[in-house]
Amino acid sequence: MERVKLALIGCGGIAGAHVRALEDLWNRGVRDLEVVATCDVVLERAKDRAREVKKFQKKQPRAFASLEDLLGSGLELDAADICSLHSEHHTLAVPCLQAGLHVHLEKPLAITLRAGQRIMGAAVAAQRVLAVGENYRRSPYERAVHWAIRQGRIGRPRLFFWQDAGEALGKWGWRNFKHAAGGGWILDGGVHFTDLFRYHLNGEAREVYALTRQFEPYRYDEPKLRQGAYRVDVEDAASALIQFDDEVVVQWTWASSAPGKAFNKRVLYGSEGCLDWESGWTGRDGSHLGRDELVAAFMESLGKDEQDRLFPGGSHDAIAVELKDFADAVRLGRVPEVDGEGGFKAQAICMAIFESGWCGRPLSLREVERGEASGYQDPIDRALGLI
Ligand SMILES: NC(=O)c1ccc[n+]([C@@H]2O[C@H](COP(=O)([O-])OP(=O)(O)OC[C@H]3O[C@@H](n4cnc5c(N)ncnc54)[C@H](O)[C@@H]3O)[C@@H](O)[C@H]2O)c1
Repeated sequence: MERVKLALIGCGGIAGAHVRALEDLWNRGVRDLEVVATCDVVLERAKDRAREVKKFQKKQPRAFASLEDLLGSGLELDAADICSLHSEHHTLAVPCLQAGLHVHLEKPLAITLRAGQRIMGAAVAAQRVLAVGENYRRSPYERAVHWAIRQGRIGRPRLFFWQDAGEALGKWGWRNFKHAAGGGWILDGGVHFTDLFRYHLNGEAREVYALTRQFEPYRYDEPKLRQGAYRVDVEDAASALIQFDDEVVVQWTWASSAPGKAFNKRVLYGSEGCLDWESGWTGRDGSHLGRDELVAAFMESLGKDEQDRLFPGGSHDAIAVELKDFADAVRLGRVPEVDGEGGFKAQAICMAIFESGWCGRPLSLREVERGEASGYQDPIDRALGLI
């Protein structure tokens, strides 16, 4: 296949970033993907994205208002790039796979683990590539951190602190509701972080103990004045202890209900030093490389092939990198860097936090992944007809 003929499904906010990423690749001469269709239940959004694509591809994709219309159109397609809200990941991905399309799916894999298993099952049955959009790990700094750890710069990883506290009480549409989003930021943004934990620690989470809270039941048009409220049902704070392979302890706290001074600290300690997401690498003898120096040292270490793989055409756009990886997986018949299983494992850690918070005890990832601890997710699955 010369180019992967792609349908962009769900044309909201992140789809715009996907179009810009595709444009970046196109302008660098990396032209493995061609958008031939756009699709959104709000047709105008699909048309807008199609017009944006035309500006660089020169050919305008056809715009559709439903997946049924798209799949029934007879248009020649190889793959779908799904950028819808979480409750629509499985409803869109499963029919695409069944129609023989390869699927790139924005994170998280699905709204619940059961929904994720449906998608993975459909990919296996159809023998198609399933990739989950994990862009964070593809940024130069995360690549440099990963390299520094593999180089032994911090010795054996021991303790990983990932802390973000602040206040964010503005309305955020479907993201404020469990039945559309699956959970709050612990899943939405958090799945990027659990992917990073797995990537950097090169291992799996085994056990989770978490406390989750909803301190703030309302979101506001005017958060400072607490005016224009609606009630929400997702968490706004969570604190988790996660045991990874090799006895590594991850302590992850996130809160959007912490007013006053915000607090962010992300540090991985090992036996010989630490990596700090603000200041870079520090060895136990005091030697130090700032963030930029660490990235520069990493870039210098790369051979031409690695450079092309990690930063195709020289692009540092993390979404461009993930889409190129997907295109290669489709064209070369190989597994993408983050496949369905990788997406599932990262999501399972987020779900283990919700499940542990729900039942008030530590949980093994095994029981969460097998669906033996699903009290938090069951109402969502019931509402979506998944059980
Ligand atoms: N990787 C990242 O950094 C990142 C950043 C933001 C969002 N995301 C992810 O991207 C996805 C979308 O988020 P967003 O911020 O773009 O949301 P959004 O609400 O801006 O866009 C979602 C779009 O999907 C459309 N849609 C809904 N149901 C549909 C259906 N059945 N068929 C076709 N279109 C449908 C909506 O009309 C809307 O235009 C989510 O999975 C989110 O977690 C990822």
